Amino acid sequence: MRIGILTGGGDCPGLNAAIRSVVRKALASGYETIGIKYGWKGLMKLDIYPLDLNNISGILPRGGTILGTSRTNPYKHPDGEKSILENLEKAGIDALVAIGGEDTLSVAYKLYKAGVNVIGIPKTIDNDVRGTDYSIGFDTAVNIAMEAIDRIHTTAESHNRVAVVEVMGRHTGWIALYSGLAGGADVILIPEKPFDIDQVCQIIERRHARGKNFSIVVVAEGAKFKVEPQVDKDGTLIVQDLRVDEFGHVRLGGIGNLVADQIEKKTGMEARATILGHIQRGGVPTAFDRILATRFGVKAVELINEKKFGYMTSIQGNNITEIELSEVVGGLKMVDIELFEVAEVFFG
Ligand code: F6P
Repeated sequence: MRIGILTGGGDCPGLNAAIRSVVRKALASGYETIGIKYGWKGLMKLDIYPLDLNNISGILPRGGTILGTSRTNPYKHPDGEKSILENLEKAGIDALVAIGGEDTLSVAYKLYKAGVNVIGIPKTIDNDVRGTDYSIGFDTAVNIAMEAIDRIHTTAESHNRVAVVEVMGRHTGWIALYSGLAGGADVILIPEKPFDIDQVCQIIERRHARGKNFSIVVVAEGAKFKVEPQVDKDGTLIVQDLRVDEFGHVRLGGIGNLVADQIEKKTGMEARATILGHIQRGGVPTAFDRILATRFGVKAVELINEKKFGYMTSIQGNNITEIELSEVVGGLKMVDIELFEVAEVFFG
């Protein structure tokens, strides 16, 4: 049995831990492992190399992915699927482990329907993959954002400012909600709940009326104004760049500046924005992500042993289990509104 492994979509801490785990468990089961470079792009071009104990040695704590990644969508390329099927055959790959978010897993599911023996492993700092409580990378991103909020706290307090911290989260507010809760944010803005900037200002003013002279607002990059300020004629989302990738996503980032600007204009309080950006996706994974990735890697090979293809590894509570890819793709896991209501208790 020869197992191919790829990582697709945005990178995140914990990918190398997952690669190491698949390779270690596969070698222990008597299988061969092949690394596929740059996600689906590498499979379309047959850019592969053998993975062995030597080239995975020492990668457990390393951020990023030794395989490289891309946002290539084979279904946007003429003959994309055909070239993948031919290359899998050529390379003698009997089973494929695709480590990715919703985009990568959707491609994995299409390939499974085309006859490929696929197993998915969920990763994304956004934590929006359906069918699993957590995805690899989320916990690390939350901890990085929390630490940033803690640091911004002290400077906001010293200067009596409103500090707006923009975190990632294209369609969902998991990072904003978790880091905001952990960091004691006074307002959290998420894509799932379009916000009224006047209400945000009222919350801040209420807080200042009770004697506080600084505030922290955490905003997800994909958060939406209920009524858009007249600054962006192109739509409700504040985007850096309107070009789309092969999965149809625009590049987000910048809403934090707009929120800070509006707060300053409407309340007269001094406001500053900090955009955390890719810092959230870099560096060493937390213990949680290392362990999650390791458990997912072992589970993926167990599923291959059982010939249970077309599944994704999943964590439910603290149990590692599996879920059919058909149930994962075609939608995202939105934030738990009950948890948002817990956060709201601490607004203002
Ligand atoms: O992978 C998810 C994500 O981190 C989103 O939160 C963010 O919008 C996007 O990736 C950024 O992508 P890129 O690395 O292509 O700028």
